[in-house]
Amino acid sequence: IESPYEHIKVSTPKPGVGLITLNRPKALNALFTPLFIELNDCLRKFDADDSIGATVLTGSQKAFAAGADIKEMKDKSFADAYGHDFIELWSSTITSLKKPLISAVNGYALGGGCELALMTDIIYTSTNATFGQPEIKLGVIPGAGGSQRLTRAIGKSRAMDLILTGENFSGKQAYEWGVAAKCFETPEECVEGALATAEKIVGMGRLAVKAAKEVVNKSQDLGIRDGVEYERRIFHGLFGSRDQKIGMTAFAEKKKAEWSNE
Ligand code: HXC
Repeated sequence: IESPYEHIKVSTPKPGVGLITLNRPKALNALFTPLFIELNDCLRKFDADDSIGATVLTGSQKAFAAGADIKEMKDKSFADAYGHDFIELWSSTITSLKKPLISAVNGYALGGGCELALMTDIIYTSTNATFGQPEIKLGVIPGAGGSQRLTRAIGKSRAMDLILTGENFSGKQAYEWGVAAKCFETPEECVEGALATAEKIVGMGRLAVKAAKEVVNKSQDLGIRDGVEYERRIFHGLFGSRDQKIGMTAFAEKKKAEWSNE
């Protein structure tokens, strides 16, 4: 079947695992609204598809995404930007998905590209990756959550240092600072590693995976007391699931759990 998309490539390389590859090679995957319309459409379909349990988002070896499309942005007015909710469409779907989204970041992840990666649930990267928030050099600031998500990820002093100077940081630094969960030697290993993790997640019960993602995300919005209470409610709720019985009984009987997803 021919892909219905122009700016992304889509496949299911392993059972239950979706793979989306940003595909605007001539512009180093510069981000613009037509690409996000396709990306959102595909992510929504995967989120609603019972046969998919987790998705990997990647770019090319040269660029995950070199940022928002500067040529498209340069003549925008305040009314264009604010009035037409430029960027809202870029983040609203990705940050409200229920199933895990793992990014495999190789090459340039600059500006909006870095911010896109920061919107995903887990970042894997490789030694060839270059992250950065260079917006200051263009006379603006991060606009897709970078000042908030990067600061939460690496702390205020480091985030200020990067955002005020526009200096890049490497995949290895991203890993050492906790932006990325893993750093691989090569881009191929990075994508394979992300797919392997997605496959592992697909092997877990769907309800527990959904709940786990939900509570970890709450930690970004709530204070510790409210966050722990929130977690407790969801944890207690899972005792109403069949999978809790299945998982704990399987452990007690030294068997492999066969999830019901109920
Ligand atoms: C539009 C871009 C682009 C971008 C690269 N290209 N990045 N076009 N917007 N963000 C285009 C180039 O114009 C060029 O097109 C082609 O891709 C190849 O890029 P080169 O510059 O020739 O490649 P190279 O010399 O290898 O340099 C790679 C690079 C550089 C270091 C990544 O392209 C670069 O600095 N790009 C801009 C990075 C950036 O500032 N990003 C932040 C954008 S602001 P032609 O037609 O000449 O071949 C942002 C705001 C986010 O993201 C806030 C809201 C989301």
